[in-house]
Amino acid sequence: TDYSYIVEDLLNWYSENKRILPWREKPDPYYIWVSEIMLQQTRVEAVKGYFSRFISAFPTIKALSEAPEEQLLKLWEGLGYYNRVRNMQKAAQTIVADYNGSLPADYTALLKLSGIGSYTAGAIASIAFKMPVPAVDGNVLRVTKRLSGSYDDITQPKVKKELETDLLAVMPGNRSGDFNQALMDLGATICIPNGKPLCDACPLAKFCIAFQQNITSDLPVRPSK
Ligand code: ADE
Repeated sequence: TDYSYIVEDLLNWYSENKRILPWREKPDPYYIWVSEIMLQQTRVEAVKGYFSRFISAFPTIKALSEAPEEQLLKLWEGLGYYNRVRNMQKAAQTIVADYNGSLPADYTALLKLSGIGSYTAGAIASIAFKMPVPAVDGNVLRVTKRLSGSYDDITQPKVKKELETDLLAVMPGNRSGDFNQALMDLGATICIPNGKPLCDACPLAKFCIAFQQNITSDLPVRPSK
């Protein structure tokens, strides 16, 4: 699928509509990492407070690597999925040992760290290091499958990999982090799950097959299980 036609309008929309979020104030790779891990199972509004408290308690990767487990878990209390923070501390210890305490500006090296998969590696690489790589999460799958009017089962790993390839091909070299975050913000605020997406406010409606065919509520397709 060719997504080149959305890039310009999407970036213009993002410039005017991006959400103000604590981790967007400064593209520190550590802040991006912490926020992306927190955001994996938790909504933006809930994450804001946790993010600020976590960064105050552990301002650096070194501090995180040395934190007592009970303090870590206390700061994570309410977010759930406690393995996320245990994996982060393990990765922090690797980063201190192997990379002098800073996240590596290297997509493949990021992927090898505990708890970092293709989504998180792509988010850190693009947002913090301006590398032209995609970051495909559930929002991005929903937005793109509606755009292309595709009934692909989005739980299939191959569907996500194909999308990563298609997006890699059109990634704007100078604004990859904005491009990825624009797709996420669009998915979170306009092209929302079930119910009715706010297509009247969507900068991409004129390109969107699901909108034109009135099938947004059928997409994306998940497993019937
Ligand atoms: N959800 C997960 N990561 C995000 C980000 N960087 N911006 C907006 N929504 C997100």
